[in-house]
Amino acid sequence: MAKAAITVKKLHYTYPNSTNEALHNVSLTIKEQEFVAIIGQTGSGKSTLVSLIDGLIKPSSGELNVVAGLEINATTKTEYLSKIHHQVGFVFQFPEQQLFAETVAEDIAFGPHNLGWPAKKIEKAVDEALKMVDLPLELKSHSPFALSGGQMRRVAIAGVLAMDPQILILDEPTAGLDTQATNDLLKLIKDLNEKGTTIIMVTHQMEQVAYYANHVIAMSNGQVVADTTPQQLFRDAQRLKKLSLTLPVSVEVAQFLSKDGITLKNTEPLTLDVLADEIAEAMRRKRK
Ligand SMILES: Nc1ncnc2c1ncn2[C@@H]1O[C@H](COP(=O)(O)OP(=O)(O)O)[C@@H](O)[C@H]1O
Ligand SMILES: [Mg+2]
Repeated sequence: MAKAAITVKKLHYTYPNSTNEALHNVSLTIKEQEFVAIIGQTGSGKSTLVSLIDGLIKPSSGELNVVAGLEINATTKTEYLSKIHHQVGFVFQFPEQQLFAETVAEDIAFGPHNLGWPAKKIEKAVDEALKMVDLPLELKSHSPFALSGGQMRRVAIAGVLAMDPQILILDEPTAGLDTQATNDLLKLIKDLNEKGTTIIMVTHQMEQVAYYANHVIAMSNGQVVADTTPQQLFRDAQRLKKLSLTLPVSVEVAQFLSKDGITLKNTEPLTLDVLADEIAEAMRRKRK
């Protein structure tokens, strides 16, 4: 059994300028090396939850344990929260908006520099991070603002990867990217996960949940309303509808076929490949 990377207990959060709770009694566990998708409508509390996990804000009540004993509760000192950033990388929504340095290298080096790493180690980390996001080293001396949108996002992500986080949080990382850039970025995230990084990804795309996640947490009105596997989640179409969430196309096709009397063995094929295999299998059975 994998160890817990993050435990959240009875967490409540209210923004300082607000009277409504943004998170209400949230409890959950994320294990090491999981690929977790966090889903839910706009305003359901996804960004608030991941900000708490990264120690960007403190709970109003309840507690979180993040990697090896770092506990956060309402009384945690702000200085202590910065320890969390050493181990948890956070890729904000539209992270390219946070680029600021004159060169790509300086931008990527910012995080490692703040961690107080020696120059040689920083240089190596910058090169490795650029390789990870598949950008040529020649770009190091370029201005990040002269790059394409997709490249800018990669630079911003490289800045987080350079700190070699054990846990990587990404808040809607593919929003606004074209199909190619989206697929490339998801492949990078999957590779990192396969090499051992715990991934927590906020997404609106049910296909991304189905293809990549092995654990899915659905939020609604500041509460966790599902905490399960993608397979289980997509089994309950009625419940998804209530939460204004959709099915991945592959599962939807399986349901249409079922209504027409062709029931697949796997009633929730998570990918198009699996769907195709299931249809072929059903056709073979019919011919016999
Ligand atoms: N800075 C803020 N100040 C006050 N309320 C906020 C702030 N950020 C988010 N909220 C509110 O908290 C709730 C949860 O928001 P958020 O976590 O951003 O949801 P999501 O990421 O799922 O769209 C919403 O009701 C939102 O309006
Ligand atoms: Mg959000």
